[in-house]
Amino acid sequence: MPFPLNVPESALRRRRSQKWVAYPEDVLPLFVAETDVLLAPAIRDRLAAAVADGDTGYFAEIERLSGVCARYYSRFGHEVPEDSVVPVNDVGVGVRESLARILPAGSGVVYTPPVYMPFAPWIRRVGMAPVAVPLIDHDGEAPRLDLVGIERALADGARAVLLSHPHNPTGVLHRPDELATLADLASTHDAVVVSDEIWAPLTMPGVGFRSFLAASDSAREVGLAISSASKAFNLAGLKCAFVVNGNPERFHVRRSALSGAVGHFGALAAEAALTESLDWLDELRTALSANLDLMDTLLAEHLPRARWRRPDAGFVAWIDLRGYPGLGDDPAAFFLDEGRVALSNGPAFGTEGRGFARVNFACSEELLTEAIARMGRVASSRS
Ligand SMILES: Cc1ncc(COP(=O)(O)O)c(C=O)c1O
Repeated sequence: MPFPLNVPESALRRRRSQKWVAYPEDVLPLFVAETDVLLAPAIRDRLAAAVADGDTGYFAEIERLSGVCARYYSRFGHEVPEDSVVPVNDVGVGVRESLARILPAGSGVVYTPPVYMPFAPWIRRVGMAPVAVPLIDHDGEAPRLDLVGIERALADGARAVLLSHPHNPTGVLHRPDELATLADLASTHDAVVVSDEIWAPLTMPGVGFRSFLAASDSAREVGLAISSASKAFNLAGLKCAFVVNGNPERFHVRRSALSGAVGHFGALAAEAALTESLDWLDELRTALSANLDLMDTLLAEHLPRARWRRPDAGFVAWIDLRGYPGLGDDPAAFFLDEGRVALSNGPAFGTEGRGFARVNFACSEELLTEAIARMGRVASSRS
């Protein structure tokens, strides 16, 4: 079992986070985007020291955390000014508050299904109207943004695009030329691009990430990027993320209003992650890539009619199971009932997800092997 995805199941079963309590013990959980790692040593030691010191009060070091995030994010294609960073307590808050503070009530916000399932509810929650412009499926190749459809939606009055980059669930990195075109479209139509970049630190080995904000000068004029150490270092419960405001003159997304609710432990952990744990992150990325090799072999053996494309980033794989019509529109529901394997339900990502399931492969080789073997057994009983 390659480090750091080598934590025994018995230890994982002691956890009380969502991945490990949502289902009974006979279910293998490969659904919610948590990873089965122990904390990177620098993060563990920082948090342990805070616990030992009783250092459990309110978060206060907003400027220090902003500096850490700005220096880290500057690796993704352009120099991030420290004063453009606004710490927030999670990416969801960053997205919702950005939309709410920038757009008039009732504005249309484009999103690109299949996509992370809370996007449309987030848009509605802040009084805006979701406008779906689905990705274009290229039959086994990377699904791509429908830039013509987005242009039409903006021309029809939508005021923003909520991007997932790298894209969840497909794991696709949008190309720099697509991002530059998107920025020009937004600029022409006086719209905003909110780029959810939570998966940015997790590109596969050898694959580089470039922020939407690095696409062009106009991208910075129309855009905000929102990211976090939470997916890469498994810190979601500690509540710390950050907005990079491409145009602070224009977008009134301010620390004074948004940074007070950051989790103190989240901030301590983010600093230890983004300054001292990048070698550890490289080991995780290598282990994730090894799991993709394994998954390739396992799917060919147990689910030969499944189709998928290796993600460029992240630890979820988007599996097309329409070659198994007996599994219905929601194969994950079938695999849970019949195989006791919990995946994310394809249709939850949009109607485009019918016949698909999302597999979280940030687990041990043993768990992945057992899960896909179980899926293969029950799928063949249905076809
Ligand atoms: C694209 C995307 N955005 C946001 C989130 C959630 O982030 P947070 O817990 O910081 O709100 C996730 C979680 O998986 C995600 O995949």
